[in-house]
Amino acid sequence: MTKTIVKFVCQNCGNEFSRWQGRCSGCGEWNTITEERVTARKNNRSWITDASTQKPVAITDIKASQEERFSTGIPELDRVLGGGIVHGSLGLLGGEPGIGKSTLLMQVAAFVAKTRGTVLYVSGEESLSQLKLRAERLNVLTPNLEVFAEANLAVIGDHIRNLQPNLVLIDSIQTVYQEDLSSAPGSVGQVREAATYFLKLAKSLDIPIILVGHVTKGGEFAGPKVLEHAVDYVLYFEGENQNTFRIVRGVKNRFGSTNEVGIFDMTDRGLVEVENPSGLLLSERPLNSSGSVVVPCMEGSRPLLVELQALVGKTAFGGIPRRQTTGVDYQRFSIILAVLEKRQGYPLQNQDVFVNVAGGFKLTEPGVDLGIAVAIASSVRNIAVNPQWAVIGEIGLSGEIRAVNHIDLRLRELVKLGFKHAVIPAGNRHVSVEGIGITQAKSISQALTAIFHD
Ligand code: TYD
Ligand code: MG
Repeated sequence: MTKTIVKFVCQNCGNEFSRWQGRCSGCGEWNTITEERVTARKNNRSWITDASTQKPVAITDIKASQEERFSTGIPELDRVLGGGIVHGSLGLLGGEPGIGKSTLLMQVAAFVAKTRGTVLYVSGEESLSQLKLRAERLNVLTPNLEVFAEANLAVIGDHIRNLQPNLVLIDSIQTVYQEDLSSAPGSVGQVREAATYFLKLAKSLDIPIILVGHVTKGGEFAGPKVLEHAVDYVLYFEGENQNTFRIVRGVKNRFGSTNEVGIFDMTDRGLVEVENPSGLLLSERPLNSSGSVVVPCMEGSRPLLVELQALVGKTAFGGIPRRQTTGVDYQRFSIILAVLEKRQGYPLQNQDVFVNVAGGFKLTEPGVDLGIAVAIASSVRNIAVNPQWAVIGEIGLSGEIRAVNHIDLRLRELVKLGFKHAVIPAGNRHVSVEGIGITQAKSISQALTAIFHD
C-alpha cells in the first residue's frame, strides 16, 4: 500500500515543516520552502547492503590502510583536498551556476583518465556533444574519459558497478532522480536519497565520487547544505561571474584541514592556477586614494594580501544612514563602527558607510577588523594610507587590539610584495621578520595615530 505525505521542506537547509512559511526558521532564508509530496514505498532502502553480510569487528583487527590518495593534476586543488583525492571518498563541489564547476571537473577527469585509466563523467545537464565541445575547448580529449548523459540513479549506479572507474563525477546531484520517489529531481528528498546512494557506492566499491551541487538563491533546488553532513569533504566555488578570479574553498574535510583555498583564473582554456595570488589581488589597487588599506589575511595555511575599501559619505537629508558590506562580516563591521564612534569620536551617525573587499574575496577572520577600521577612518578623514603600509589585528569592544596567529607568515608575505611597514597587535611578541618595519599597537587609537601621524 502506498501513502502520499505532503511536507514543506526548506531547499536550503532541509528543515521540514507542517505548513508553508515565508522564512525558514532553521536557516533564516526567505522563500526557500517548497511543498514536497512523498509517496511512501515498501522496502525503500532495498539498495542498502544486505544486513546479514555486515557484522561488527574489533577495532584492533582492522587492517589500517594508509589513506591512499591520488593527484587531480591541479596542485592548488590537491592542496585544498589535503593532498589529493582519497580512494572511496564522496565529495561535494558547490557553487553558483556558471562559476566553473563543470570546467574544473572536466579538467580533473581528463587528468585522472590519462594518468590512472577509466573515469566516468555523468552529466544530467548537458548533452554528449556539449561535453565533447567543452573537452575540446579545454584540450583534454582522452579515450579513457567516458561520458554519460543520464540522470536516472539506478542506471548510473549499474554503469558504475560495471565500469569500475577510477573516479566518478556526477554533474549535478540536483538533476539525478530515483524513479520510485515521487518528488521532483532537485528536491530535498531526491537529493538526500541520491547522496546516500552514492555514499554507499563509493564506500563499497572503493571508488571516489565527486558530486556537483548548484547553489541557488531562489530555492528551486535543494542547496548543497542539505548534503554537507553526508559527504566526506565539501568544496565551494566562490567568485563573481563578472571577473575571472575563482576561489575553491574547503569547508569540510574528513581527510585534511578545512579552510584551505585554491585560487584560479578562468581563462579561455579553462581554470588556470594563480602563481602569485597576493600580487593579482593587489594589481588594481589605487595608490594614494583614501579609504583603501591592505590586510595580510590567512586563508587556511596561506597568507594572502587583500585590499579593503571603505566609502563614507553624508546621508541624504532626512534619510536613514546606509550601511553595506561585501566580503566582510556585517556584525563585526557594526561593532567596528560603534567602536570608532564611541572610542575615537568619529561622527558616523549621519553618514552612509560602505565596505568592500576588492576582488570578490570573502574574509571571515577577525584579524581584518583593524583593516576595516583604518579604511573607514581613512575615508572619513579623506587621507590616504601610505600604500607601502599594511595593518592587521582584531578589535575588542573597548578599542583594544588583540593578537593574531601566524604573524611571521603574514609579515613575510608583505615583504615579498614590497611592503615597508605594518601595524600589528602589541600582543604579538617575538616577531622576527627582516625587511619590514613594524608598529605594535595596543589600541585602535595607537594604530590610527601611527597611520595618520596624529
Ligand atoms: P561551467 O564550468 O559550465 O560552470 P558550472 O558548471 O559551474 O555551471 O563554466 C561556465 C562558464 O565558464 C561559462 O560562462 C563559460 C566559461 N568558460 C571559460 O571561460 N573558459 C573555458 O575554458 C570554459 C570551458 C568555460
Ligand atoms: Mg555545469
